[in-house]
Amino acid sequence: MELQSAVTHLGAVFEHIAADGQMVLDELHLPAGAEVLDVGTGVGNFAIFLAMRGFEVLTGEPDTDTTQYARKDWAANAAAVGVATRIRFQAFNASAMPFADERFAAVFFFGVLHHVDEAERARVFSEALRVVRAGGAVVFFEPNATTLKEIWGNDPGHPLAAHPGDYVGGAKLVETRLRGRRMDIFMYRAA
Ligand SMILES: C[S@@+](CC[C@H](N)C(=O)[O-])C[C@H]1O[C@@H](n2cnc3c(N)ncnc32)[C@H](O)[C@@H]1O
Repeated sequence: MELQSAVTHLGAVFEHIAADGQMVLDELHLPAGAEVLDVGTGVGNFAIFLAMRGFEVLTGEPDTDTTQYARKDWAANAAAVGVATRIRFQAFNASAMPFADERFAAVFFFGVLHHVDEAERARVFSEALRVVRAGGAVVFFEPNATTLKEIWGNDPGHPLAAHPGDYVGGAKLVETRLRGRRMDIFMYRAA
């Protein structure tokens, strides 16, 4: 019911986003109803997906972001799908997250890392590792070649996909890669 409603309100692409997200949830086995962090709200697609799966979602983006990808009416989308009560918004920059250590069961970046300034990506990665709980995961979804081609049709200046592994620094992590329908997925857990 909610999936159909989401597709109606957010477009056919949401079905693929949900399929890619589900691949990750099937791997992670997060506790039911856990609090998770969705970095980079955008139109709210991924926050809405997580809320549909029963998680308590904190989502945010910098309030200084003036690009076409920020300050969207994600709240109306969430309300239309019926999951607004499970999503909370707080503006923040992922390079200095205003959250306590180990607060979240998982931290998700859906279509976000390539939008972060290159010089800030390592800091963003280490912040995500700081706020994720022991045993949790940090997960990046980056557009695959087909998705990028589609995006460039509307936004020729859109950046290339990022490779999260380039920004790990000294952290000892296990990386798992998954090939989604639209996104390449990079999951990191403590070694
Ligand atoms: C393409 S949108 C993400 C789409 C969104 N995740 C969704 O599911 O609809 C890119 C997002 O990254 C956010 N972003 C860019 N730099 C950021 C940073 N340093 N910290 C947090 N969010 C950032 C933008 O503000 C924007 O919300």
